Amino acid sequence: MAKKFYILTFGCQMNEYDSEVLESILSADGYILTGKPDEADLAVINTCSVRKKAETRAMARIAQIAALKKDKRSFKVVVAGCMAKRAGQAIIDQIPGVDYVIGPDFIPEIPDIIDSPETKKIYIDEKGGVEGLTNGFKGGRPTAFLAITKGCENYCSYCIVPYVRGSMRSRPVDSILAEIKLLKNSGVKEITLLGQNVNSYNDNGIDFPSLLRLIAPDSPPRLRFLTSHPKDISDNLIACFAEIPSLCQSLHLPLQSGSDKILEAMNRGYTAKHYLGLIEKLRRMAPDISLSTDLIVGFPGETEDDFQQTLDLVKEIEYDSAFMFRYSVRPGTKAAEFADDVPEEVKIERLNKLISLQQGIADKRSARWVGCSIEVLIEKKSRREPFYPQGKTRGGQSVIITNNDHLNVGELIIAKIESSRSKTLFGQAEKLA
Ligand code: SAH
Ligand code: SF4
Ligand code: F3S
Repeated sequence: MAKKFYILTFGCQMNEYDSEVLESILSADGYILTGKPDEADLAVINTCSVRKKAETRAMARIAQIAALKKDKRSFKVVVAGCMAKRAGQAIIDQIPGVDYVIGPDFIPEIPDIIDSPETKKIYIDEKGGVEGLTNGFKGGRPTAFLAITKGCENYCSYCIVPYVRGSMRSRPVDSILAEIKLLKNSGVKEITLLGQNVNSYNDNGIDFPSLLRLIAPDSPPRLRFLTSHPKDISDNLIACFAEIPSLCQSLHLPLQSGSDKILEAMNRGYTAKHYLGLIEKLRRMAPDISLSTDLIVGFPGETEDDFQQTLDLVKEIEYDSAFMFRYSVRPGTKAAEFADDVPEEVKIERLNKLISLQQGIADKRSARWVGCSIEVLIEKKSRREPFYPQGKTRGGQSVIITNNDHLNVGELIIAKIESSRSKTLFGQAEKLA
């Protein structure tokens, strides 16, 4: 009988991508995917280390899954990804049922590792190359991720990623172009180029804007990229938004804080003024661009005044959406040496204040589409009855189509937006795009 595998993924799109790659390798090896850990022969938990909460949640889930060994035939439990790399042996010590701990660079080797007679349980050394970046896409979906870099060397003082994902490596241009062709031929309409900081892409002198221009002639209808670092956004990159028709007018540009003092302590390499200048240039070049960001409250030394500067900037910029976090100490990072001096209740209070400010802004930004006819890529049926077709705009907003049940996943249509509710727009299909 074919062996079954179960994968649970925590964390960012890079982890989702790694899980997809693993899924396709295991499928090619004859394994069958199951959603139930209790019937799996192999369970992989792909973990995240970015905040303490992410690790606590993953540990609890791993313990639950490993506990299934008590009343079930033997199966293998693999803890993979960023927390595997960070915590190593400690995971095996704390959760007895764990068989292997495997860092991000070794994920594609999981099938070989578990079949080998080798008794080694921990694979977390850093590897130099760009192996494992090949897409695990199995077809049948209109959107796909495509990793173009690995690792990060920015060392933002709060961040664990450079320690768990290793140094920054760029995937060769030819390999990227070949994969885009494959994805396009399999019916993919939208590709998101992935990396911790795609703007620092460099393959033998070909930088990120040059890569975008090389992709452009053969691009699917929609192209996006994630994530960008403000210190590396060049005028040349901003020009791409006006120049490349397939490049969606949408940018995720983490600000983290509105205070120059805090930005410096975070080692972010830009000031609030520089950041604001970038936003102005972007909006001049692409007036409708949708902007999203990441923000951290309660970083060491953050005063009420520093926090106010974050609120002021968020109010001024008006993001379409934002991911907002309480600062979480990550052992081994530079900021872990600073006193975590903002009390938890103050962090919570600041976070709530920021979330409620951003909620109002997001509602307003969403409402600006009401009355407009915009392109929507149908991605699925909505989760709740009456199961309307649901898709995304080029700006990344979700749209529910209320007048046409017959739209297929993967169709590009024009929809007239009639109302908006928080993050979701509601519209009627007008015609195919
Ligand atoms: N490479 C991306 C994503 C990094 S992790 C980037 O640079 O934008 C995603 C977000 O998590 C970060 O942007 C930051 O806002 C948040 N984050 C990272 N480390 C954190 C920490 N120690 N505490 C709280 N939030 C953190
Ligand atoms: Fe972390 Fe900074 Fe790298 Fe992003 S750019 S992954 S926040 S070190
Ligand atoms: Fe991503 Fe979390 Fe690792 S954010 S890179 S999965 S630490």
